[in-house]
Amino acid sequence: MQLKDHIVLVTGAMGTLGQAMCKAIEAAGGKAIRSDLAGRGKPDIVLDVTKEEDWKAAMAKIAAEHGRLDGLVNNAGVGTPGDVEQTPFSEWRRVMAINADGVFLGCKYAMPLLGRSKAPSIVNISSASGIVGGANLAAYNASKGAVRLLSKSVALSGARKHPPIRCNSVHPAFIEGDMVDAMVKGRPDPGKAMAKLQAQIPIGRLGHPEEVANTVVWLLSEASSFTTGSEVLVDGGLIAG
Ligand SMILES: NC(=O)c1ccc[n+]([C@@H]2O[C@H](COP(=O)([O-])OP(=O)(O)OC[C@H]3O[C@@H](n4cnc5c(N)ncnc54)[C@H](O)[C@@H]3O)[C@@H](O)[C@H]2O)c1
Repeated sequence: MQLKDHIVLVTGAMGTLGQAMCKAIEAAGGKAIRSDLAGRGKPDIVLDVTKEEDWKAAMAKIAAEHGRLDGLVNNAGVGTPGDVEQTPFSEWRRVMAINADGVFLGCKYAMPLLGRSKAPSIVNISSASGIVGGANLAAYNASKGAVRLLSKSVALSGARKHPPIRCNSVHPAFIEGDMVDAMVKGRPDPGKAMAKLQAQIPIGRLGHPEEVANTVVWLLSEASSFTTGSEVLVDGGLIAG
């Protein structure tokens, strides 16, 4: 019960990884507050991460109901293929708004409520693609790289608080679920494309959503109390090579 009585807000909670994270948070004794876009399942809070007013309203609701926040998982994100020439500027702006602005706004507006916790922790979901580039991932690479370094700045300003507000980034590589399915669906031979993805991973398979979720629980918990500003890979060894 590493997260006994912890109140944790998860964005994009109705997606593949969000659902697994909420389940793992609850299995560890915490209370997961599920947020997502309107019309995406039945979230506890409708929160479009690109909208400043949604963040303010979400924080007011959590303050009224719980009085504090122990954890924030900035998980909402979108993938988009395209090299720098192919990517329309409007698509660049959309991806940056969700993946980068959304994480900035989350960290900014959650800080005061996190400051009321005894052991506050922010976990930002970046990607292996936030560390290494790909020719056809211009906007995604840039947005996830932004999450990686923003997390370090937040960790350093959070370290000045009492108690410190920790902040770390998580970097998964291809995880089973909608995002990877959508990536291979557009290819001429989806089966071959999936096999190619798997072959890139030294462990020889895609990751399971639970493997990312378990890392998130660890970073939210006091078991990682001296870990802040770090980037945690959940990538089957992809970046090691
Ligand atoms: N699945 C992977 O292989 C993989 C690998 C590396 C990183 N990631 C990252 O993990 C996170 C979760 O990915 P996933 O695989 O669960 O994807 P997913 O598509 O299953 O879920 C993403 C969720 O984000 C929500 N969302 C989209 N725009 C939003 C907005 N403006 N405001 C609030 N919510 C919004 C969607 O409604 C959805 O529920 C993303 O940040 C993604 O970039 C995923």
